Amino acid sequence: MEWIETSMRRVADGGQGMRQLRRSEEIQTAAAILKEGGLVAFPTETVYGLGAIATSADAVAGIYRAKGRPSDNPLIIHLGSVERVADWVKTVPPIAQVLAKRFWPGPLTMIFQHRGNLAANVTAGLPTVAVRVPDHPVAQALLLEVGIPVAAPSANRSGRPSPTEARHVWDDLHGKLAMILDGGPTGYGVESTVVDVTGEVPVLLRPGGVTLEQLREAVGAVEVDPGLTHEDVTPRSPGMKYRHYAPEGDLWLVREPWAEVKEALERAVKRHQAQGLRVGLLVTGEHKDLVAADLTVCCGWRRDPLSVAQQLYHALRTFDEKGMDVIFAETFPDEGLFRSVMNRLMKAAGGKILDLKR
Ligand code: TXA
Ligand code: MG
Repeated sequence: MEWIETSMRRVADGGQGMRQLRRSEEIQTAAAILKEGGLVAFPTETVYGLGAIATSADAVAGIYRAKGRPSDNPLIIHLGSVERVADWVKTVPPIAQVLAKRFWPGPLTMIFQHRGNLAANVTAGLPTVAVRVPDHPVAQALLLEVGIPVAAPSANRSGRPSPTEARHVWDDLHGKLAMILDGGPTGYGVESTVVDVTGEVPVLLRPGGVTLEQLREAVGAVEVDPGLTHEDVTPRSPGMKYRHYAPEGDLWLVREPWAEVKEALERAVKRHQAQGLRVGLLVTGEHKDLVAADLTVCCGWRRDPLSVAQQLYHALRTFDEKGMDVIFAETFPDEGLFRSVMNRLMKAAGGKILDLKR
């Protein structure tokens, strides 16, 4: 298939008429490719998705192939409007209706019983399906134009940090998809929150753009899947059992407040450098000048959790680009958006905590 590279951002800077024409042309081309069974990457408000129509097993198989994704890890279907959800799921329970009203379109994915009218490999053979209505003008225009659900995981090679810019998609997947719609950097930077609404009480399966606090404020009780917090419990969301989001360098998390362990950190950096390793630091703006290493990547500000979420995956990718062998990362309290950031950092690090007592 012919490769088409586009830039929504560049187009958006142009004159009004041009922009309308170009944007709608791009959307139409992308929709046509999807309907023919091709793969298109598109921006959402969380991360970029790698889309295929969810009613064609062949098209969906292309997603698993391009990403190198394990076949037991089901996909999220994306719809352009909340009204269409009922066409693909058995029932929308009252609690899901409340959540939909409050958070859709937006960074929330809900798990429903499906009707059996999607390709079986979308759901990896499960009786349930993950559904989301994204809040991004490009994603919405595309989904409305396609008219049928689009299955889309994050548009990264399996195991890599999710893409928050079109360039990240290109780096991971060029040659393996037909088109990338460039909508500039994404708004949240972490994926959607996944909530199972098939039982009496909603269960959080993956923290993301919508916080646990916001969910509880909307519907009262929300349980947290024990698989998220206990290493010995298998997560209910298949994707959460894999090591993920990982840079190629060896990532270690620093539990202690950065400022309180300055000397110990300096010793740890030197110890690794003495072994010929290049050491990177993942820090917030508040701490960027505290400790010296081969590369310091500033990832937002502690006083602004959204800024940390937005920059996290780009920061992790930067360590690969600069060839860091070892990375030490600041950590965050388990609350609000930081809960999602910590979930991704723990996975990226494979749970490794740096021992500063050495
Ligand atoms: O923000 C997002 O959610 C992005 C954008 C592109 O929408 N998509 C995304 O997809 O993060 P992916 O495939 O990287 O993550 C989907 C997660 C996985 O952990 C998967 O196991 C889980 O949702 N999931 C999908 N279907 C499920 C099901 N039926 N039951 C439980 N978990 C499910
Ligand atoms: Mg993913």
